[in-house]
Amino acid sequence: MDTKRFSPDARGLNAAADVLRGGGLIAFPTETVYGLGADARNDLAVARIFEAKGRPRFNPLIVHVESAAKARELVAWSDAADILAQVFWPGPLTLVLPVRPDARISALVTAELPTLAVRVPAQPVAQKLLAAFDGPVAAPSANISGRISPTTYQHVVDGLEGRIDGIVDGGACDVGLESTIVGLSDTSTLLRPGGVPAEVIERALQCDLARIGDQSAINAPGQLASHYAPNSPIRLNVKEKSGGEVLLGFGPVRADLNLSPAGDLTEAAANLFRYLHRLDAEHDGTIAVSPIPETGLGAAINDRLRRAAAPRP
Ligand code: TXA
Ligand code: MG
Repeated sequence: MDTKRFSPDARGLNAAADVLRGGGLIAFPTETVYGLGADARNDLAVARIFEAKGRPRFNPLIVHVESAAKARELVAWSDAADILAQVFWPGPLTLVLPVRPDARISALVTAELPTLAVRVPAQPVAQKLLAAFDGPVAAPSANISGRISPTTYQHVVDGLEGRIDGIVDGGACDVGLESTIVGLSDTSTLLRPGGVPAEVIERALQCDLARIGDQSAINAPGQLASHYAPNSPIRLNVKEKSGGEVLLGFGPVRADLNLSPAGDLTEAAANLFRYLHRLDAEHDGTIAVSPIPETGLGAAINDRLRRAAAPRP
């Protein structure tokens, strides 16, 4: 299959939307990572996502829409959803809510759960593509399953060239980490740490989020222990690298690449996947990583790093 490059202007985006309408796969930039999009109402198109990514199981997918109004056509809305949508949409937050019976979303997207994950991305190119397509777009990160998520056009080319119909070239992703996922039912649960720190969400809701594993928490399908893995092994919380290792630093340390010499977690998040890609491509041997604080975006960064370091299946 020939993978076409689409420019992020009206012509390119209309052409990409036509491919989506025809059941094809289009990778596109969001503010978090590049997504691999398909028409969420088309079973065959959604099945192609799993095929292209080589996903081992049918994990549920996030549906991307243009606005909160469009999201409300797909899920049963709530007061908490209203607060979070007003504060954080468009942006790197995904809400999991009961799917509406009239939503007409493919069962492959929900993995036949009674709930649906919805998100309104802020990235202008994503916004324009969703407007041009004018429908729900299911999109996991645009990488081969289990590999590092893509934050540039070139990452998507390297991983999926020949396996998908096209890629919208929209430059590098600002946030660099996937969206935070919050499940809203009787209790609100943090299902995946991500681009919006959990503490900020708790402040907006004026209550604590349950964590996975808590008795009151709803469960989180698709959170594999080993994920986001580069080819090289990873060693975490390293103060000093040993022979043959390369150091991915954080803060004022001497490193082969430094996520943020100033110790800024936002900057570190934006660099994380790009630097992992680079160290993985340019060096053999283990990637050692400096300790990273568990506060704010640090929780999401450490979550990704622990998965990258976990034993591979
Ligand atoms: O930033 C992001 O969220 C990126 C961009 C492309 O939007 N997307 C992304 O999708 O990270 P993906 O497929 O890599 O992660 C989707 C995860 C699933 O693995 C699962 O953990 C959770 O979202 N999820 C989806 N639907 C769910 C549901 N109904 N209930 C619970 N968790 C769900
Ligand atoms: Mg992913």
